[in-house]
Amino acid sequence: MLSKELTLDLVRVTEAAALGSGRWIGKGKKNDADGAAVRGMRMAFDTVPIRGTVVIGEGEMDEAPMLYIGEKVGCGTEKDPTVDIAVDPLEGTNLCAKNAPSAIAVFAAAEGGNLLKAPDMYMDKICCGPAGKGLIDINASVTENVRAYAKAAGKDLGDVNVVVLDRERHQGIINELRENGCSVQLITDGDVAPAVACGLPGTGIDMVIGVGGAPEGVIAAAALKCLGGDMQGKLWPEDDEDRERMAKMGIEDDGKVLTMEDLACGDDVFFAATGITSGPLLRGIVYDGKKAITHSIILRSKTGTIRYIETIHDYSKKPMIDKIDVDKP
Ligand code: FBP
Repeated sequence: MLSKELTLDLVRVTEAAALGSGRWIGKGKKNDADGAAVRGMRMAFDTVPIRGTVVIGEGEMDEAPMLYIGEKVGCGTEKDPTVDIAVDPLEGTNLCAKNAPSAIAVFAAAEGGNLLKAPDMYMDKICCGPAGKGLIDINASVTENVRAYAKAAGKDLGDVNVVVLDRERHQGIINELRENGCSVQLITDGDVAPAVACGLPGTGIDMVIGVGGAPEGVIAAAALKCLGGDMQGKLWPEDDEDRERMAKMGIEDDGKVLTMEDLACGDDVFFAATGITSGPLLRGIVYDGKKAITHSIILRSKTGTIRYIETIHDYSKKPMIDKIDVDKP
């Protein structure tokens, strides 16, 4: 069982990642921004009393020096829980490099064995907030899905705002949404933030539809589970290597529908994110002299609590930040 006291420890993890990449906002260097976020998140984990295993991270052990899949994180001892960890220290590397909206540092956790170990490949996804729970069906048409959602949410189709990654592969989805009169919000990168936002009131985002990263799909599912929203996904192999990856995890069939519970299950799922650049979900980092202000959200499925945390970090009193910032521009 995870303890609620963990929530503050966990938000420190996404704050540290955000503070690392924050120095690289708008500098055009996505890899440096990502490296700083990873370093920050990795350092912060050393103070969290869990026995965590990274199930979704920066890649396989031989390709990522930190936060690789299988890495043990946290300073927990035998009395502390074993936890599956899914991280994306900088979700939207291009967004950070270009100072475009909605780059976030993000993290999800569940008791051991409860997060899908999604391989690094694509996933077809459909996400919605609580109004559409139980009504979406990834095998149904876009038209059927938006109509079912609009009816349940008591909205005109013209007021339904659907976020779609601006990719050639989505032209059919975009056309169908527009034929239904929906508003299509095209984004260049980063489909986790809008997926979380569609589970929250007042963000102006109703649904997210289309193909994006499978690891990001698991992180989004963890958030939507906490928020009472819904999601379905289908792995979207591009080649035989992807099919092999799927087979290794026991999925032979491209058509297998993954429900939110297949992606993130268990009684107690946590999700945390800190804004790096501002967007509908969170405000981005603001630097003010020797201080930095961060805005974070933390969710827990067991209680349904939605908590926002604004933190003022005093650089003159936080030696860890110098270590994260070691190669800042
Ligand atoms: P980064 O890994 O560069 O942060 O990109 C993340 C992301 O934009 C996801 O949010 C999205 O699911 C996926 O990449 C889309 O992939 P592609 O750019 O190949 O369409």
